[in-house]
This record gives sequence, C-alpha cells and structure tokens, in this order.
Amino acid sequence: MKKIGVFTSGGDAPGMNAAVRAVVRTCIYNNIEAYGIYEGYKGLIEGKIKQLTSKDVSNIIQRGGTILKSARCKEFHTKEGRQQAFDNIKKFELDGIVAIGGDGTFTGAAIFNKEFNIPFIGIPGTIDNDLFGTDNTIGYDTALNTVVEAVDKIRDTANSHNRLFLIEVMGRDAGFLALRSGIGVGAEAILIPETQTYINELVKKLDDDTKNHKESMIVIVAEGDDAGGAYEVAEKIKEHCPNYDSRVTVLGHIQRGGSPSVADRVLASQLGNAAVNSLINNKTNVMVGIINKEVAFTPFQKAIKHNQKLNTDLLGLAEVLSC
Ligand code: F6P
Repeated sequence: MKKIGVFTSGGDAPGMNAAVRAVVRTCIYNNIEAYGIYEGYKGLIEGKIKQLTSKDVSNIIQRGGTILKSARCKEFHTKEGRQQAFDNIKKFELDGIVAIGGDGTFTGAAIFNKEFNIPFIGIPGTIDNDLFGTDNTIGYDTALNTVVEAVDKIRDTANSHNRLFLIEVMGRDAGFLALRSGIGVGAEAILIPETQTYINELVKKLDDDTKNHKESMIVIVAEGDDAGGAYEVAEKIKEHCPNYDSRVTVLGHIQRGGSPSVADRVLASQLGNAAVNSLINNKTNVMVGIINKEVAFTPFQKAIKHNQKLNTDLLGLAEVLSC
C-alpha cells in the first residue's frame, strides 16, 4: 500500500470531513501517500484526483459537508464509466480506495470489485443510519440533534396556537431518524416505512389526545412512510377531522448540514483510521463499522440496506410514552 485514494459519495453527512481527515492522517502516519478524489465516483471517472497533505485536512474536523464534494453518478452504472474509473486508478497508481458513503456507494463498490481487482474499503457515511454492520452511521447522531432542536422550536409555536404539526424528516425509505427523533421530542405519533400507517388509527389517537386535554400535538412523518409525506398525511387527517388547526413542516436538507457532534467526530475518526489499517492488512470489499464499541467488518453485499433492523423496543416505548 503506497498510495490510497479517498472519496465521499451519495448524500453528504456531518462527520464526513472528520473521516477524510482520519484517512489522510493515518496514511501519512504509515508513510502512505493519500489522494483526494473529488465528487465521488464522478471524480474517479473524470480524474479529479489530487494528493492531500496533512495540512489539507487541518481545521476540518468541526465542519459539516465534505471538502471532497459529493455527487450522484449515473455514469458509474455503466461498464464504460467503471472502466474509465479503473484507468484513472491505474494512472494515479492508487493501490487501494476508501469510499465514504451510503448504500448506493457500496452497491457501486461491490460491482466495481467484481470487475476490477482494486482493494476497496467502505466507511458508512449517511444520516439515514440504514446500513447493516454498524450501530451508527456517520452523520446520524448530528442529524438527530438537528431534528430535535428544530422540532423543539416548532413545539413552542404549536403550544401557543393549540395546533397539530406534521413534521417530515429524511431517511429515504428507512425510519431510523424519525423513530429516535420522535421519541426525543415526545411526539404524539411517529410514522415510519417499517410499519403500516392506518389513518383511522392515527386520527383516533389524536382525538384521544385532544380529549385528554393535549392542546398541541406533534406527528413525525418519515419521508418514506407508506401513507406518503407530511403533506399527504395532513390531507388525509383533514378528510377525517376538518376541525384540527394543523400545519406542516418539511425539515429537508437542514438535516444534512451543521457541525458534527462529538459522537460523529469520534466515530468518523475511528472508522477513517480503521479503513486505512484494513487496506494495510489486505482487507477488501468490506465496510468498517462500530458494533458494541468494537470495530466490525461487513461485506458490502451484507451492509447494503434492508438488513439493518429497526429497534422494535423503541416502537413500543414511543407508544407508551405518547399516551
Ligand atoms: O441519503 C441521505 C438523504 O438525505 C436521504 O435521507 C434523502 O432522501 C436523500 O438523501 C435526498 O437526496 P438529495 O440530496 O440528492 O436530494
């Protein structure tokens, strides 16, 4: 391992910069040259590759976003695109690659590995927390805190006006962000893709809460919920009970920014370091993660979503505490 490339891919997440910094610093510590690949797979195909020094990653651990930029790249889905990526890896004589991203990133890495024998290590960087093989993905903790801070503010105005608020959070087709943030804000209801949403049951719950003199109510809606997003759910509630004074807030991309929490900074530093050490120890085609405080290695095929199980105890807890 003389030269290692690193890139960030997919939706950015707070803590990605901390992971890039850890990869570069661990390379330099081990007398390995570190190369930044800009804009994810797009940059690999276009050859946007530049050596990084220790100074290049100074003063970024606290910054949200990613200095390496990110992009979603359709060309990488083509054999020609992957061939161009391979040609650039050879041109820059990269011996291994660290890919920081989510399930789309690792799907691409797994396909690339089948076609070209280039060692790839994945680092789970996504606010969705929908990857198997790590307790938390980088960015998840920060996004949770962003959601809770925003909803606490909405709770103030909901209380002032005795309103029902439906708040949509990200997570693509996973409900991790919605479930844990919903508990964190004391939501009256939490709608997630992993469980069927029955509008009549939701309306009954809201009616019961109103009868129990709840003057304002918060419903957290995961963007991938089967009942639709927050606006669709609000419409359905209005059809059943037009008397609710309700409003909708879609938090959107605010959940992707902000200075990473210390939990995300430490997680990212651990995983960046573990990724480089894995390449040095000839591992490939795995995602590094932290499970029960220990570094874990999960094959890309297993890490890709639909394997990460939701904590159903939390679902029960949400039900009990929202009565
Ligand atoms: O995967 C992270 C994520 O923020 C999802 O939660 C969200 O659905 C998606 O990215 C948004 O993608 P984009 O930033 O391309 O609109």
